[in-house]
Amino acid sequence: MAYLKEIRFNWDKVESRNRYPFDIPSLKRIKSIYFKSNVTFFVGENGSGKSTLLEAIAQNCGFCVKGGSRNSLLTDDVDDLSLSSILTLAWLPKVSNGFLLRAETFYDYASYIDSLGPEAYASYGGKSLHMQSHGESFLSLLQNRFGGKGIYLLDEPEAALSPQRQLVLLRIIRQLEKDGKAQFIIATHSPILMAYPDADIYSFDHSPIIKVQYEETEHYQVTRGFLNNRDKVLEELFSDD
Ligand SMILES: Nc1ncnc2c1ncn2[C@@H]1O[C@H](COP(=O)(O)OP(=O)(O)OP(=O)(O)O)[C@@H](O)[C@H]1O
Ligand SMILES: [Mg+2]
Repeated sequence: MAYLKEIRFNWDKVESRNRYPFDIPSLKRIKSIYFKSNVTFFVGENGSGKSTLLEAIAQNCGFCVKGGSRNSLLTDDVDDLSLSSILTLAWLPKVSNGFLLRAETFYDYASYIDSLGPEAYASYGGKSLHMQSHGESFLSLLQNRFGGKGIYLLDEPEAALSPQRQLVLLRIIRQLEKDGKAQFIIATHSPILMAYPDADIYSFDHSPIIKVQYEETEHYQVTRGFLNNRDKVLEELFSDD
């Protein structure tokens, strides 16, 4: 069960598909994306359009696209987010609680929380987010700020997290989604995170995006090949030295 069931793309509103973001190959032929699982991953090469879509969804949810929630007062820079204006989100039921979390803008968000004073960061582990390490502050945000009914949009959460902490994140996701309360959409390059059981994985390496199995992802195949045969892979990689 997912709250957000479908995203429809209203292409008739677009005059020219030759400019960003309407020219992104993974997105330009999509009519609808369906969400059947509580946990959905966006995977694909760098620059394939994952963040662009995630931010457009966040904007439609009313979340601050710099990496906060509805109540967050960080100013939005919406110049390049016109994708959101052609999306229709179908909900059952509609939820307004949730969050967009981006590693790139997490620093700004931490500064914003700090500027509100100790009462504000009480719900983030009782300590200024800047006085916690990147990974610690990220997890304390996830553990303390997420909860209840909501839709959580995470953009490369692994950027801050050790492999061990990525496993912790899998547990947090599990706790939040297992009773059907939380829906997650996560853009990731991490073969650990995308292994979450029964998740849907959308590959942005196709035009339009398609659903793939875990084992079909390049992330799984390259990582597996590398770990199983590191010497050979490195030898081939450096063969013209
Ligand atoms: N503001 C912008 N103006 C023009 N092009 C942009 C803008 N932002 C992103 N792009 C381009 O749109 C494409 C998709 O970018 P996007 O950030 O969505 O990729 P991504 O899949 O999230 O990549 P990564 O895995 O590296 O985070 C890229 O080719 C990028 O160069
Ligand atoms: Mg991205």
